[in-house]
Amino acid sequence: MEESKLRAFVKRHVPLRRWHIRVLVRRTQMRLLCHWTTLKDLFTPNQSGFDALPSASLRYRVHGKPDRQSFLEVGRQCSQDILKALRKNGRELASFESILDFGCGCGRTLLWFAKETSRPRFHGTDIDGKAIAWCQKKLTLGSFAVNDALPPLRYDAGSFDLLYAVSVFTHLDEERQFQWLEEIKRVVRPGGIVVLTIHGETCWDGLPPEHKALMEGKGFTFFRADFYKGIFPAWYQDAYHTRKYVNENFSRYFKILDYLPQGLNNHQDMVVLQRD
Ligand SMILES: C[S@@+](CC[C@H](N)C(=O)[O-])C[C@H]1O[C@@H](n2cnc3c(N)ncnc32)[C@H](O)[C@@H]1O
Repeated sequence: MEESKLRAFVKRHVPLRRWHIRVLVRRTQMRLLCHWTTLKDLFTPNQSGFDALPSASLRYRVHGKPDRQSFLEVGRQCSQDILKALRKNGRELASFESILDFGCGCGRTLLWFAKETSRPRFHGTDIDGKAIAWCQKKLTLGSFAVNDALPPLRYDAGSFDLLYAVSVFTHLDEERQFQWLEEIKRVVRPGGIVVLTIHGETCWDGLPPEHKALMEGKGFTFFRADFYKGIFPAWYQDAYHTRKYVNENFSRYFKILDYLPQGLNNHQDMVVLQRD
């Protein structure tokens, strides 16, 4: 058989693609790293002040790394940055009654808020059943639920006076983003505050040229990064926003109170919104 025919035959009949191999290698690396970290954790006392911490593999899913220290540091920084943004807009955490962490994962940020105050009722929701199962079992600080990939959430209209989503709108395509903005508007009561984070200008460095061009034109792009294949559902990718796009589009749902470039962990931009 000629080489070209052989190639075509293999391509048609052998379902293994290059990205399958990359995913397999990455998953194996991830598993080994998580096992190694779990072993290390066994011999390192937990001095975090938290009774329970999520497993290395749950940490990896929200954090891209399994190690305990950086998981704690980033969570603390995210919580501090949200507090700072709220204060800048005249609000303290304890002034809220009912707070939802949308896309809470295994509670990286929520853990730290519950340390600050016990006044508001804390809730967390995520599509990740394993992360939520851990939160339900181990975190007494709030109540947790799994949500579907598309709205609605399980909460009644106007359930929350603060909703925040750390690095969730960074993973939604445009259509899902609008559907979730609408749903967030439903579950937040009038006058309530919403804090979202996005991949703003400082995160665009690694984008391929065609996506950079989209940012200059439309101000939004959704990038199908190979990294997530085999770990997250296919719709979970990387989204990038310009400030102008946020102003034009998010303002269809909420009043924009503030925009903090690199406001989250000196990396993602933070948008503070208010429900009419
Ligand atoms: C980068 S992680 C951040 C997790 C958490 N906010 C934190 O700061 O640790 C993104 C999280 O968003 C969740 N997520 C993505 N899309 C979602 C959706 N439509 N509804 C709920 N959770 C979602 C993922 O499952 C994941 O836990």
